[in-house]
Amino acid sequence: MAIRNVVQVGDDVLRKKCFEVTVFDEKLATLLDDMKETVRKEEGAGLAAPQVGILRRAVVIDVEEGFFELVNPVIVESKGEQKGWEGCLSVRGKRGIVVRPQTVKVEYFDRTGKKKKLTARGFFARAVCHELDHLDGVLYTDRAEKVVKD
Ligand code: CO
Repeated sequence: MAIRNVVQVGDDVLRKKCFEVTVFDEKLATLLDDMKETVRKEEGAGLAAPQVGILRRAVVIDVEEGFFELVNPVIVESKGEQKGWEGCLSVRGKRGIVVRPQTVKVEYFDRTGKKKKLTARGFFARAVCHELDHLDGVLYTDRAEKVVKD
């Protein structure tokens, strides 16, 4: 495993729409391993592949409920609303208030290409929405009603 450099806001790679993962190979496994090591070192709640310069639809989420790797994730259902603070490893020194769904159901693939589902609530749901936005070139600052210096 290796720690990868986290791309910072201003870099075009953060504004691109990512491509679906079509090959579940060793390269994908290495990317996910590296993303895990990187998000833990940076003490983030999640990290998306474009944040390490890879335009593929893969994210990792590291929250109280556990560590999750989501490949080609799609939100199939959202419910409710929550308002709260968010930050991003690609937008250092800032945080903002963002409205997100309270609950989301997600369909995704694991690193071996097996189809899975999960339901996330509260902060977990917030992290899922934040990371999935990255796959479409969206940053939380685009949605925030208020952004302040940390
Ligand atoms: Co982020």
